[in-house]
Amino acid sequence: MADKKRTINVGLVGYQFMGKAHSNAWHQVPHFFDPALHPVMHTICGRNHAKALQTAERWGWKNVATDYRRVVSDPEINLVDITVPNNAHAEVALAAIAAGKAVCCEKPLARTLPEAKQMVAAVKKAGVPNFVWFNYRRVPALAFARQLITEGRIGKVFHVRAVYLQDWIKNPNIPLVWRLSGAVAGSGSHGDLGAHSIDMARFLLGDEFQEVCGLAHTFIKERPIGEMVEGLTAQVRSGQKVKKGKVTVDDAVLFLARFKSGAIGTFEATRFATGHHNGNSIEINGDKGAIRFHFEDFSYLDFFDDTLPAREKGWRRISVSAGQDPYSGKYWPAGHVIGYEHTFINTANDILENLAGPRRAFHANFEDGLRCQEVLEAVMVSHQQRQWIRIADVA
Ligand SMILES: NC(=O)c1ccc[n+]([C@@H]2O[C@H](COP(=O)([O-])OP(=O)(O)OC[C@H]3O[C@@H](n4cnc5c(N)ncnc54)[C@H](O)[C@@H]3O)[C@@H](O)[C@H]2O)c1
Repeated sequence: MADKKRTINVGLVGYQFMGKAHSNAWHQVPHFFDPALHPVMHTICGRNHAKALQTAERWGWKNVATDYRRVVSDPEINLVDITVPNNAHAEVALAAIAAGKAVCCEKPLARTLPEAKQMVAAVKKAGVPNFVWFNYRRVPALAFARQLITEGRIGKVFHVRAVYLQDWIKNPNIPLVWRLSGAVAGSGSHGDLGAHSIDMARFLLGDEFQEVCGLAHTFIKERPIGEMVEGLTAQVRSGQKVKKGKVTVDDAVLFLARFKSGAIGTFEATRFATGHHNGNSIEINGDKGAIRFHFEDFSYLDFFDDTLPAREKGWRRISVSAGQDPYSGKYWPAGHVIGYEHTFINTANDILENLAGPRRAFHANFEDGLRCQEVLEAVMVSHQQRQWIRIADVA
């Protein structure tokens, strides 16, 4: 009997790092989940036709485009997925929204707060479904942590302690890639890594930031200009004299935060944390217990239950692979662990279920992206003015 499953045509803009993660997600999601809408990998778009074609052939995209306008104006495409650098998020999203498409966009939602506001106003006016790929919300251990916190298992929250540590640009010969340009990225480690920590805190606590006090620092102020191939430019590799350009973003951002509930937090995002490639960690301490998560121990959530008798208290390392969350049970038997790419597959499934059902808000949506952008902005204003900044004063 023919499969009568409803389908949705996806157009993906961008084919590199996140383009690969999203291509894999759209390809794999029907293999592990049973979404009510089946994704058809309709078109992939990238400015370099040969590279976009290579991605299409590898991942199963049916068509290739070199201009995103072809994707947003294609009447066959229902969902536009955005994995381009931050400076192009607003342009592509606004065009897709104007064409009445559902839009899912990589984080941070935009390069700047005004762009994020414009994007939220546009989706509200058009009434189109909108999603942000804050993929850490769909790490099984963090989805489980959220359940515990929502059930009151750690009680009233005192502390949030979040760090996102990388070290890939500490070599001064790493070229001036788009992530180091304020005009393209908006900010450095702040919007790249800190945005995830800010969103994870909002997601886990169900709370909003009230005020922040920040410090931003750039360790290496100039870098070689040129295309990065395996970490360096061809000129640097062959020992030639190189032209340098200015780094116009932060290398590291630290900030203190006060939440509306009265909880307080410390946040650190850096690409200079020698020894850490993707050290994304969060700990939350409440009056009844605590949770902590380290990305490199992806399958585990540490839980401390302070309501137990004194002699039984201690950190428990829970393997979140047995379906105690909405995701891990969809893959393999308990203890057969999953990883990074599955956070995108999980997100893709939730996007499809959301699109298939009655219209309801998705988490994270463009509003969530805007809340995060307000915090990013307040931290940078705080750094510039050397004082605490209330989120309400930048929003
Ligand atoms: N959720 C996560 O964990 C995560 C991880 C990495 C990056 N990101 C986000 O994903 C986005 C992309 O980052 P990346 O690491 O994939 O970057 P990348 O440099 O690896 O890829 C960017 C892609 O965009 C294409 N591109 C650039 N401008 C374009 C345009 N105008 N039209 C069409 N294509 C264009 C490039 O050719 C390339 O294919 C960024 O917003 C970044 O913050 C999210």
